[in-house]
Amino acid sequence: MSSTRFLTGITTSGTPHLGNYVGSIRPSVRASLTAGVESYYFLADYHALIKIDEPARIQRSTLEIAASWLAAGLDPERVTFYRQSDIPEIPELTWLLTCVTGKGVLNRAHAYKAAVDKNTASSQDPDMDVTAGLFMYPVLMGADILMFNAHLVPVGRDQIQHIEMARDMANSFNHRYGEHFVPPQAVIEESVATLPGLDGRKMSKSYDNTIPLFAPREQLKKLIAGIKTDSRAPGEPKDTEGSALYQIYQAFASDDEAQALRQAYADGIAWGDAKQMLFERIDREIAPMREAYLDLINHPAKIESILLAGATKARQRATPFMAELRHAVGLRRLSDQAGTTKQKVAKAALPSFKQYREADGQFRFKLVDAQGRVLLQSRGFASPKDAGLAIGLLQKEGAAALAGMATQLEALPVEASEVGAALALLAAGT
Ligand code: TRP
Repeated sequence: MSSTRFLTGITTSGTPHLGNYVGSIRPSVRASLTAGVESYYFLADYHALIKIDEPARIQRSTLEIAASWLAAGLDPERVTFYRQSDIPEIPELTWLLTCVTGKGVLNRAHAYKAAVDKNTASSQDPDMDVTAGLFMYPVLMGADILMFNAHLVPVGRDQIQHIEMARDMANSFNHRYGEHFVPPQAVIEESVATLPGLDGRKMSKSYDNTIPLFAPREQLKKLIAGIKTDSRAPGEPKDTEGSALYQIYQAFASDDEAQALRQAYADGIAWGDAKQMLFERIDREIAPMREAYLDLINHPAKIESILLAGATKARQRATPFMAELRHAVGLRRLSDQAGTTKQKVAKAALPSFKQYREADGQFRFKLVDAQGRVLLQSRGFASPKDAGLAIGLLQKEGAAALAGMATQLEALPVEASEVGAALALLAAGT
């Protein structure tokens, strides 16, 4: 239980390409073999629904991505490998997190903002074609991560903001309901180069310049032949700098092999020959996996049962944790009276002040009893110091302070006498 938990999701919206392999699949599979780490890998198919409304494509992509990871050596015995939509606790947690996430925070999410900016620039309604799914994307992702209390989340740079939002969600939930979540951290793999695509730009589905990871040999060869090069003739020395072909080769080659190709460039290797070298080098690494991949793709039931076993394993953690969270927020059996739950330690039985900052930038506090019931709620203060002074007054004077603080407090949700009793208990207990 004390090991570091890594977690990462792969949106099931496409066919894995060499860029995904070099940037994500290969390093993740290697990392999963490290001792002392607990890894969670999942197929983010709920996320895919935000981008894709073709059911067959979602299903196909789920199959291809699962088969790719398994073929690349992910060991489902060693890691927890599952499909997001097999874990009903994830959408349930999404709602709990939705209720502690400021709408203003989501307004600032890059993907949503980009869509709004684009609409605004073309004088359209700002929210044209923007689904609430796109808007809520970061909360669903927060639930993915917090569900398993992952410590570290390996992601690309474009996802850093989402991890920061997940941290905020963890903190604001913890603030309201006690310590349940570990605020996660992003891990950015600086050493993993982004692979250039056929046209030299970053390999990406959106540029239509990808090489599918498990393209058949002949297709792989043809695609590699199409990599953009300059017009230097055989015999003319060539530059490795800025050469997509060289960069892709480097991602697969040993240092010695890369050095040999650098020399060949300097010696004026023909582009056709360099492409042949690249093809052979990639195929050497990929061919054995391709065989495993084809076998898996042709036996979807095998993959299905691996994923279902993964979901069972994931839910061994998610189900009891969700029960804990439901209880924490007050979604409880009515027979389960607050007073009948055993109080763990004397300290936990005391009421307490909770200070927090809202999305509006104001500082607030509340007084909650040992069961988390709110006894008193402040209005917004401009600074934490002002909020602290008000708390100090309540601590010092108890219920007597209430009358003079009408402008600083919301209407009391309980009898003033109950607040007074709690303040007295707090004074006695600290
Ligand atoms: N949003 C991620 C991406 O597009 C995929 C993803 C979904 C994810 N949930 C996650 C990644 C949780 C890390 C952790 O790349």
